[in-house]
This record gives sequence, structure tokens and C-alpha cells, in this order.
Amino acid sequence: MPPALSSICLPFLLLAGFIAIAAEAQVPANQTFKFINQGEFGDRIIEYDASYRVIRNDVYTFYTFPFRLCFYNTTPDAYIFAIRAGIPNDESLMRWVWDANRHRPVRENATLSFGRDGNLVLADADARVVWQTNTANKGVTGIKLLLNGNLVLQDKNGRFVWQSFDHPTDTLLVGQSVRINGRSKLVSRTSDVDPSDGPYIIVLDRKGFTMKLNSSGQLLTYGGWPDRDLGSTVTFDAVPENDNATAYELVLTVNQDSTNAPPPGRRRRILQVRPIGNGQQLNLNKLNYNATYSFLRLGSDGNLKAMTYYDKVSYLRWEESFAFFSGYFIRECALPAKCGAYGLCDKRMCVACPSPKGLLGWSESCAPPKLAPCKSGGATGAKADYYKIVGVEHFLNPYLDDGEGPVKIGECREKCDKDCKCAGFIYKEDTSKCLLAPPLLATLIKAVNTSVGYIKYSK
Ligand SMILES: *[C@@H]1O[C@H](CO)[C@@H](O)[C@H](O)[C@H]1NC(C)=O
Ligand SMILES: *[C@@H]1O[C@H](CO)[C@@H](O)[C@H](O)[C@H]1NC(C)=O
Ligand SMILES: *[C@@H]1O[C@H](CO)[C@@H](O)[C@H](O)[C@H]1NC(C)=O
Ligand SMILES: *[C@@H]1O[C@H](CO)[C@@H](O)[C@H](O)[C@H]1NC(C)=O
Ligand SMILES: *[C@@H]1O[C@H](CO)[C@@H](O)[C@H](O)[C@H]1NC(C)=O
Ligand SMILES: *[C@@H]1O[C@H](CO)[C@@H](O)[C@H](O)[C@H]1NC(C)=O
Repeated sequence: MPPALSSICLPFLLLAGFIAIAAEAQVPANQTFKFINQGEFGDRIIEYDASYRVIRNDVYTFYTFPFRLCFYNTTPDAYIFAIRAGIPNDESLMRWVWDANRHRPVRENATLSFGRDGNLVLADADARVVWQTNTANKGVTGIKLLLNGNLVLQDKNGRFVWQSFDHPTDTLLVGQSVRINGRSKLVSRTSDVDPSDGPYIIVLDRKGFTMKLNSSGQLLTYGGWPDRDLGSTVTFDAVPENDNATAYELVLTVNQDSTNAPPPGRRRRILQVRPIGNGQQLNLNKLNYNATYSFLRLGSDGNLKAMTYYDKVSYLRWEESFAFFSGYFIRECALPAKCGAYGLCDKRMCVACPSPKGLLGWSESCAPPKLAPCKSGGATGAKADYYKIVGVEHFLNPYLDDGEGPVKIGECREKCDKDCKCAGFIYKEDTSKCLLAPPLLATLIKAVNTSVGYIKYSK
């Protein structure tokens, strides 16, 4: 390898003592590799209905039960270098728990190489570098897939120069974190087939760990743990619940550098059945088995779910072990996409498609009224009217404290009239609070009769 050679020759001529260290801090020649993305596909059904190729050679298996390195693709000739969890004999879907190049898939004959300089490089078939660890000449001497599914590049003292755990995409394995000073968020995929960035993110900042829907650039809070400084790091963990370790708790561990934890319940009135946890932990769920092999993922539907792999059973080893929007956590109707583009949700079901003619039956094709496009300057287009739905609220209501107020309903309507982006408003008759809905109506949630929805439509 000419580049590695030349970078060694220069210091060698200059300083013999230095070269001893530099030479030592290299990957041994027999532990370098170059995999070419070609050949047979695996024959099992795998998550996203993907095709996959296992990455291995005589030196490396890159297999640490139940994790394995692979290339996979969901559309022809667009491959992602990834970590898989689960084994072929499970008779249960194997899962993708880490992606390197989700945004820039590579083609057939792309190469994954690990040279003496210690850089792990994914290059496309035309040799263009698509992804790399940027660890050339940083003292890397080896690569390893650890027991917890963390792919690491280590120096001679075993220190991690690079680790996949620092680069989550939409998934956290047990022990993996998001950090304010690092990768601070998870971003959903667009869909099973399309791995590019979807509209949902969960982001850690000093205001909390908050789920947001990116609606044409506008970030709308729809879940998570907002209004709470959780410190600079949040780690997904599975911890034994008792001394015998017969049960485990799935938790988010927060570090204690938070400046002020606002009293719980302030502004929040979301039903959460589970105990919130102590100051250092947010409890997600308790499982009556060993939950060490779990992951937490922000899915393409916007829900935050955990899956747990338990290999002591003969089949169906993966189990959904937590869902943010579910019967046991936050009401499912608050998932914005629960009823597709539009719908009324009651007790976990899409029960109606609201229209100017009243509540019609819901189907996938239920859509909000089409409004005249905004004119430049933001002025309202054609004169709009509203239809009324008694007993609903928007997914933003709990997060925006029901909006402004107290105001008169006439004022609330006037504000929406003047704002061409306003798709309607929720008026609380008991508190006179007024929430203007963004262009996105999505799933309306069944609520008490004093919460009234007014949906804008062009006459
Ligand atoms: C690589 O080479 C070193 C010494 O040069 C040797 O000790 C080691 O066993 C070799 N490893 C493999 C996997 O061949
Ligand atoms: C991949 O490379 C092999 C040679 O190693 C070649 O025969 C094959 O056509 C290439 N495939 C594609 C899709 O370019
Ligand atoms: C939101 O989506 C827009 C594209 O619609 C994108 O340009 C922007 O970066 C996204 N914002 C975030 C915070 O992801
Ligand atoms: C846990 O261990 C304690 C003490 O060893 C024992 O009394 C108890 O029965 C055990 N519980 C379970 C569920 O095994
Ligand atoms: C739980 O599973 C992990 C992974 O297999 C294992 O290392 C650990 O010892 C198990 N815990 C107990 C209490 O058996
Ligand atoms: C809410 O309104 C519906 C329909 O208008 C009515 O059937 C129901 O009795 C009302 N509920 C309460 C608690 O007032």
C-alpha cells in the first residue's frame, strides 16, 4: 500500500526513536482486509425485507453473538454497511441495529477496507470514498465487534479511537448514548424501503429529550421527555431489577450534570402509566427475563420502540418490549401519523374522517381540506370557513399548554383567518385557550366536549 509506506518512510529518515512508536501503532499486515461487495446473498428473511451479504474472511468472522457485520440493500444496487442482530436459525426476523452509510448507499463491487494506517473506508465501485472512520494514522492497531454490538477501532492500549456507538442513526443498543456534545439525536428512516432521513427526530438538548416532527422545516414536538434538563448524556440501558437478575428494566439513564430539574408535571398532563423513575433514570418497561439484547429505535412511523432478543426460547425470539405510543405508555392516538394524513382517533382506533358534512367513515384516503395556497406576503387566499368538531384536540395541545389565552373565540378565529398557514384551531371552552394548528392536522385526538376543533376549508 503506497500511501501507508510513504507516510512511514519520512519519519524513519528523521527520527529512529519516533519510528519505533509509529511502526508499533500500525495495523499488523495480516490483519488488514479488503472486502468486495459481491457474491451470494443470505437466504433468510430479514428486516425491511432486505437482501444481505455477510462480511467475513479467514481472519475475521465479525460475528459476536448475536451481532454480525453485513451489507444489505432494500432497492437494487444500493447497499448499506451495517450491523445485524439475531441469527439465521432464530425463525424470527433479524434486525438492523446500525447503519454506516444510510444517506449514500454503495453499488455492487464497492469495497470495505481496513489498511495498515488504521482507517476503515467504504469506497464505491468507482473507488470514490463514501464513508470512512477518519482514523488514518491515529494509532489504531485493531478492529473488533464487541459483545454489546459496538464496532470499535482500538489502539495498542485497547482505547477506542473510533466506535460505532458514537454514531447512532435511528437506533440505540443497550449501553449506547446520545450526547449533547456529539451525536445528539436519532433520525427516523423514511420507510422500510427508503433508508434516507425521515421526518421524525428525537433530540437531546438542555430542554430535554424530545421527539419532533419536521413538517416542511417546522419542528413540532409530539413526544419524548420535554421540559426536563436531563443532563448532557442519555443512555439506553437494561438493568437487573432485583438481586437475582430474574427481571430487567429498560431505562434511559441520564447523567447528573443537569442544572435544574423542573418539578414533574409542570405543563404536562399526558397520561403516563409507568413510574417515571428516579432522578437518574426514566423507566420504559420492566421485563421478566434477561433483556440485555435490546435496542431502542425511532421508527419510520414516528413511534419510539424497543425490541428485545431473548435466545432462551425456541422461536419468535424478538419481542416488542416498549413503545412510547402504546396502551402502556402514552395514548396511541397522540402519534401524529396514527390515522395517516387525517382522521379522528379514539381509544387507539381511527374512528372517523371529519368533513364539512360531519364525521364520515375513516379510511387511508381521509385527507384534510385543501386550502388555497399561501400568496406571497402570507396573506390569506380565498375566503375560508370552518367546520366544527366537538370533543377533539391536536397532538400539539399538551406540548403547547393548549396555546394562548384566555382569549375570546372570535379573536382565535381571526388569528387563524389572517394566517394562511393555519389549518384550523382548537378552542378550549372551559379555559378559553386557543391553539392554532399548523398546516399539519394529522391525527385529531378524541377529547372532552369543551375542547372544540374548527377546521378551515375553502367554500
Ligand atoms: C499475524 O502475524 C503475527 C506475527 O506476525 C502472528 O503472531 C499472528 O498469529 C498472525 N495472525 C494471523 C491471524 O495470522
Ligand atoms: C464486479 O466485478 C467483477 C470482477 O471482479 C465483474 O465481473 C462484475 O461484472 C462486476 N459487477 C458489476 C455489477 O460491475
Ligand atoms: C427539516 O426538513 C428540511 C427539509 O424539509 C431539512 O432541510 C431540515 O434540515 C430538517 N431539519 C431538521 C432539524 O432535521
Ligand atoms: C432471589 O434470591 C433470594 C435469595 O437468594 C431468594 O430468597 C428468592 O427466592 C429469589 N427469587 C427468585 C425469584 O428467584
Ligand atoms: C444476561 O444476558 C447477558 C448476555 O447473554 C449475559 O452476559 C448475562 O450474564 C445475563 N445475565 C444473567 C443474570 O444471567
Ligand atoms: C358530548 O357531545 C356528544 C355529542 O354532541 C354528546 O353525545 C355527549 O353526551 C356529550 N358528552 C358530555 C359529557 O357532555
